[in-house]
Amino acid sequence: MDLNFKELSKVNENFYVTTPIYYVNDVPHIGHAYTTIIADTLTRYAKLQGKKTFFLTGTDEHGQKIEEAAQKRNRTPKEYANEISGSFRSLWDEFNISYGAFIRTTDEIHKTSVQKAFSTMLENGDIYKGEYEGHYCVSCETFFTETQLVDAEGCPECGKPTSIIKEESYFFKLSKFEKPLLKWIDENPKAILPKSRRNEVIRFIEQGLVDLSITRTSFSWGVGLPDHVNDPKHVVYVWLDALMNYITALGYAEDNKEKMDQFWPASYHLIGKDILRFHAIFWPAFLMSLELPLPDHIAAHGWWTRDGEKMSKSKGNVVFPREVSDAYGVENLRYFMLREVPFGQDGDFSQRAFIDRINSDLSNDLGNLLNRIIGMSAKYSEYEIDSVDVEKYHTKELDAMNIALDSLDGYMKEMQTHRYLEELWRLFFYWKHSDN
Ligand code: MSP
Repeated sequence: MDLNFKELSKVNENFYVTTPIYYVNDVPHIGHAYTTIIADTLTRYAKLQGKKTFFLTGTDEHGQKIEEAAQKRNRTPKEYANEISGSFRSLWDEFNISYGAFIRTTDEIHKTSVQKAFSTMLENGDIYKGEYEGHYCVSCETFFTETQLVDAEGCPECGKPTSIIKEESYFFKLSKFEKPLLKWIDENPKAILPKSRRNEVIRFIEQGLVDLSITRTSFSWGVGLPDHVNDPKHVVYVWLDALMNYITALGYAEDNKEKMDQFWPASYHLIGKDILRFHAIFWPAFLMSLELPLPDHIAAHGWWTRDGEKMSKSKGNVVFPREVSDAYGVENLRYFMLREVPFGQDGDFSQRAFIDRINSDLSNDLGNLLNRIIGMSAKYSEYEIDSVDVEKYHTKELDAMNIALDSLDGYMKEMQTHRYLEELWRLFFYWKHSDN
C-alpha cells in the first residue's frame, strides 16, 4: 500500500539505548522484563524512523554479593554467573528482544575497559589512595554513612543489616564534580527523567558529595587494578566496574573507535528508580573525569508490586515473566506493561488487572476493529484491500491520523508508552465509529 501518512523516517540520527546490566544473583523477574521491553520498544520505534540503533543489555557479574551467592551454592562465581547470565539471555531471545549486544562484566574486553578507565582517572588526578571506614550494604553494593542508616544498622535502601568495613581503598574525587554536575543538570533539563527524579538528584548533590571509595580488598571477585598501579590486593568497586559497560560495548578499550563515534553519548540509559544516584551522579562524574560526553537522557522508571505488595523471594510473590508469557503470551505481557503504568510511576501487577486489560483493549477494541475491517473487505471487495481511492475519499481519516502521529512521537520520546497506546486506541475508536 502506498498511503500518504506522514513519513516516520525524517530524522536520521543514531540511537543508543541501554538497560541496566542485571545482577546474576537471581533469575529474571518482571522488573527486569519491564526495562528490557521498554528499551526494545524504543529501539524498534527508532528503527522505524530510519535511525541507526544500538541496544545494549547484559549482566553484572562481579562483587561481594555474587561471590557470596556462588559460595552458598558451592559453585565458583564464574560457573554460577554463566548459568544465570544464560538464563537472562535465553529469556530475552524467547521474548524477541532486539538487543544489539549482550555484555557480561566478566568478558575480557570489559576488564580491559575498566582498567583503562581507572588509569585515565588516575592520570587526570581524580583518584587517590586512602582508607575507608564505614558501613556497607552487600545487597545494594553501596557505602553508607552512619547518619544515613536506619536504627543505627539498617540499610536505608533495602532495610537489610549493613556491615562495618575498614579497609585501604582508592577514592574517586566525587566532591570535585559537585558544581559541574549541577551545571550539567541545569543546562540540560531533560537529562534526568522524569522531572521528580531530576529534583531528587539536585537535592542530593546540593547536600554535598563525599569522595567515593572505588576499590575493595576484603574479597577478590572483581576486576584487578591495572598492572602499572602494582597493588594486587585491590579489586574495582562493582559499581565503577558495572557502569563502564555502557562504553565497553562500544569499544572504548579498543583501537577502532567507529562505534564510539557513532553511538556515544547514549540516547537513553533506562534504569529503575533505586539505581538513580549511581547513574545520575557517579556515572556522569566518571565520564567527566574521562573527558567523554554525557548521556542525553537518564530515565528512571518506578517499581512493580504484586497485588499491591512489594515482591520478594521470602514472601514468594515474585512475578516471573516466563510464567506469565507461558500462560498468556509474550505480546499480551508486553502490551500490559507498556499500557498499564505511566513511565516513572510504580505499577501493580495482578492477574485480574492483566486479564481485564487484555480483554478490553486487545480482544474487544482491537479484535473488533480487525473483525470489522475483515468483514467489510469481504462484503465490499472480496477481501481485497485497495488503496487507490483512499487519499481521495478519506481525507478526513488521513488528517486525523496525521494529527495522532504527531502527538505519538512526542509520547515515545518521553517514554510515555501508556499515552502512546491510549492515543492509538482513540484512533481505533474513531475508525470504529466512522461511517465512511
Ligand atoms: N546490577 C545493577 C545495575 C548496574 S547498571 C550499570 C542492578 N541490578 S539488579 O538486577 O538488581 O536490578 C536491575 C534493575 O531491575 C534495576 O533497574 C531495578 O530498578 C530493577 N528492578 C528490580 N526490582 C524491580 C521491581 N520490582 N520493579 C521494577 N523494576 C525493578 O541494580
